[in-house]
Amino acid sequence: MKTLQVMTGLILFFLASFVVAQSQPQLNLMPMPASVQQGTGQLAINQSFAIVVTGGHDAALDGAVQRFVDQLSRQTGIPFRPKPGAAPALQVHADQGLQPVQKLDEDESYELTVADSGAKITAPTTLGVLRGLQTFLQLVQITPTGFAAPVVTIKDQPRFPWRGMLIDVSRHFIPIDVLKRNIDGMAAVKMNVLHWHLSDDQGFRVESKKFPKLTEMGSDNMFYTQDQIREFIAYAHERGIRVLPEFDMPGHSRSWFLGYPELSSGAGPYTLEGGGIDPIMDPTRESTYKFLEKFIAEMAKLFPDPYFHIGGDEVDGKQWDANPKIQEFIKAHGMKNNQDLQAYFNQRLEKIVAKNHKTMVGWDEILHPDLPKTVIVQSWRGQASLAAAAKQGYRGLLSYGYYLDLMWPAARHYAVDPMSMTTTDGAADLTPQERSLILGGESCQWAEWVTPENIDSHIWPRNAVIAERLWSPQEVKDVASMYRRMNAVSYQLESLGLTHNSARAHMLQRMAGNSDISALRVLADVVEPVKEYNRWDDAKGPIDFHSPLTRMIDAVSPESDTARRFSELVQSFVQGGCKDRAAEEQIRSYLTTWRDNDAKLHPLLEQSSILQEDVPLSQNLSALGEAGLEALDYIDRGQTAPDSWKTQQMAVIDQAKTRQADMFLMVTAPVQQLVEASAGQAQHN
Ligand code: ACM
Repeated sequence: MKTLQVMTGLILFFLASFVVAQSQPQLNLMPMPASVQQGTGQLAINQSFAIVVTGGHDAALDGAVQRFVDQLSRQTGIPFRPKPGAAPALQVHADQGLQPVQKLDEDESYELTVADSGAKITAPTTLGVLRGLQTFLQLVQITPTGFAAPVVTIKDQPRFPWRGMLIDVSRHFIPIDVLKRNIDGMAAVKMNVLHWHLSDDQGFRVESKKFPKLTEMGSDNMFYTQDQIREFIAYAHERGIRVLPEFDMPGHSRSWFLGYPELSSGAGPYTLEGGGIDPIMDPTRESTYKFLEKFIAEMAKLFPDPYFHIGGDEVDGKQWDANPKIQEFIKAHGMKNNQDLQAYFNQRLEKIVAKNHKTMVGWDEILHPDLPKTVIVQSWRGQASLAAAAKQGYRGLLSYGYYLDLMWPAARHYAVDPMSMTTTDGAADLTPQERSLILGGESCQWAEWVTPENIDSHIWPRNAVIAERLWSPQEVKDVASMYRRMNAVSYQLESLGLTHNSARAHMLQRMAGNSDISALRVLADVVEPVKEYNRWDDAKGPIDFHSPLTRMIDAVSPESDTARRFSELVQSFVQGGCKDRAAEEQIRSYLTTWRDNDAKLHPLLEQSSILQEDVPLSQNLSALGEAGLEALDYIDRGQTAPDSWKTQQMAVIDQAKTRQADMFLMVTAPVQQLVEASAGQAQHN
């Protein structure tokens, strides 16, 4: 009797989950909210869709509502024409308006309920409403009965208060319009800090009225005026994003010295192109601090954020070593080495920053017990420095693991957690109090290899995954779900004006000199750029930042979706004993396309100076297609592929693994898996 009851219960349970699964659509939310309860039914989005704001509302909220309507219209293609007096489809309520200067700990929570009769967003602050509106936009999907938002109750707040992205605008200048569309993307995935890396060796990008030669001589005439900066900060603020300025000191500062060589530790003269040893600031002269007093006072007024980033990374001390006066200073002050001198510089700098009512932020090299505990340490060299900073009582941010320029797959960034549980390099042995000092993290887009044209495709959609890591509960980490949602959000991001997909097509057309890029796409879709700093390290001679970035490597995605799908397909086919005919047909279809592609593509490659370097890549892809198809033929015939054949194919595969034109073919490993399966015994049927 009891068993029967349990059985009936189980059957009912399965029936119920089936019904629920049938009626509840998958949500394409990224970042995943803290709490989501799905119901049944949906709210139709049609031309009469209207919004009402209840309670107090400020200009920021009104602007946000208008932008929301514009974006919903772009996403759905519906020109909204609400009828006067009709019941609103969405009610919005914030208890408090936006703060004039956004605070680190400002409340970003919200509740969003969607019923079939209407939706409601309520939040303690306008900032929370901004986040809730973005969630609503991601809920809207096409359904058999038109666009709709599914019935749902969401209660949401961020896991970390500091969720940033760094954009380097020094190595390649990135104009304001490009930054604005990236701000829109950040807002869509609920990031809240743009870390603006405004000066480095290759360019100084901010107009200074006090020191005009900084840009006159140090920017190649590519910089932002103060008016542009103010307007941009207001744009970001309306979207709930703080703008953190970084002026990198005392290293990474060659561009300052073209106009003000007296700041440097060597004799100069300097050029933006560089050469020789890296020049750095002279921390032993009082005139350096006089300069920085005036400069930081000016910048502290221009940038309202309460935090101010002074860089502090990668100080190459060769100029200090070579300067007898500096070595004398080190001895006279009882310092041991260059690190002590940098710590002295940072202490002086911190006092100037504090005098201007700002909190100093710096890269992890600044960590030194002499600095006040108010300083924030940004970890880029490893997660251990984040834990070390917290142990010493400093607040910290994680960027190690979030460098978008290293061309990692999204899953690898996704696996990096600021509260990593490994004791050797993470936060596991921190007390709760120490853990609370970890404020969040920032993705980083360093700009050695990006231009305004392709920067979006290096940032998106992978940045959405880092945004989720910093917003969503730690338990949200299913990789398959992440990729599904990332790809859905990627389309939404393009409708915001980001160009991560569209620019790729333009670039391929330029290389081809031809609008038919179908064969070129086949190749471009299965390659990835070299990883880490390998492009940099293997570049022949110094990098010319003025040369075009228009090669295939500059256009392809950092992570090949096609290769990932193909690898998954082959893996499950082989693991299943090579029996799944439908999977085999799909695999054959890929392999046939690749085998036949070189014949179509070769003439195009030969006639373009930009594409000629890709000839071997295309040939290798063709050979891989052939090898994979032959492997499947052996498998189909139930034969074990002979050793001599396998040896030949392994040579083809080894050739295909080689770096070509700074890229790798990403389908080599799964083809090897097929070849090995065909030569083994296990899959015979
Ligand atoms: C850095 O990547 N040098 C902060």
